Amino acid sequence: MKQNILVTGASSGFGLLVATELHKRGHHVIGTSRNPEKYASKLPFKLISLNLDSAESINSLAQSVFSEVKKLDVLINNAGFLVSGIAEETPIELGRQQLETNFWGTIKVTNALLPQFRRQKSGKIITVGSIVGLVSFPNGAYYAASKHALEGYFKSLRYELKEFNINVAMIQPAAFKTNILDNSSTAVLKIDDYDLLRRKIEGFTNNLVAQAGDPAIVAGKVIKVVETDNPKFRNIVGKGTSALIHLQHFAYGFLEKNVLKQLNS
Ligand SMILES: NC(=O)c1ccc[n+]([C@@H]2O[C@H](COP(=O)([O-])OP(=O)(O)OC[C@H]3O[C@@H](n4cnc5c(N)ncnc54)[C@H](OP(=O)(O)O)[C@@H]3O)[C@@H](O)[C@H]2O)c1
Repeated sequence: MKQNILVTGASSGFGLLVATELHKRGHHVIGTSRNPEKYASKLPFKLISLNLDSAESINSLAQSVFSEVKKLDVLINNAGFLVSGIAEETPIELGRQQLETNFWGTIKVTNALLPQFRRQKSGKIITVGSIVGLVSFPNGAYYAASKHALEGYFKSLRYELKEFNINVAMIQPAAFKTNILDNSSTAVLKIDDYDLLRRKIEGFTNNLVAQAGDPAIVAGKVIKVVETDNPKFRNIVGKGTSALIHLQHFAYGFLEKNVLKQLNS
């Protein structure tokens, strides 16, 4: 069935692959970018302007979307960026910016579209989190914090939206070859005490980059969630994540079933 789908951050990486493939499959796709004029002519789907850091931009999002479509079936919260660096070396302002964009920007976009989803009594909200929303690695504490925050928020939201027939799902990719590193921000100031750790982290990061997967795998997972009626909440994807997939089944399964049982009684 053809669906109307909004993909944030559709100019690059996962978002670009997801939006292009969904368009190919016959869905009506609207993508977003901070600079739609830079990419629009090269893309087969409509690209509208969205800056997660601008209240004005987010305030005009619903109007832009609903001048294109009467109904929205799926919101894919994909836009985001990476602040890397040793936590203590990272200026608080940069850390705040990470949370502002990845967490607050995503929540504001979701809130801008929720009234329409509730009116429709249908919808699906898919958010690209990260494996570091479930576990953390060194050299990206604020990034991990932003993804942990998204995880906790949407985990709670999904209970509240169930009665409106709105599905909530997360995608948790490991490392994949997109432009995320080129588009990242990092601390400039260095503290000598961390030099040894810094060298070790460099090796760890080089390894991660060398082993990073094909982003089409993540796009495939997102598309599967779009085209599944009642998708699972957690969708972990990438090399070395199978232990986590099994563990989370035991760690969360019982508690979550218990909450749902009480809400449904
Ligand atoms: N690559 C990985 O290994 C990996 C792993 C786990 C999770 N993720 C997550 O996957 C998502 C997509 O990242 P990617 O890897 O595909 O990186 P990417 O290639 O750098 O793409 C990032 C996209 O987000 C948009 N964006 C960035 N900052 C924005 C802002 N302030 N306002 C609006 N749009 C903004 C960019 O659009 P414009 O620049 O055109 O505005 C771009 O389309 C992110 O949420 C990221 O955290 C990535």
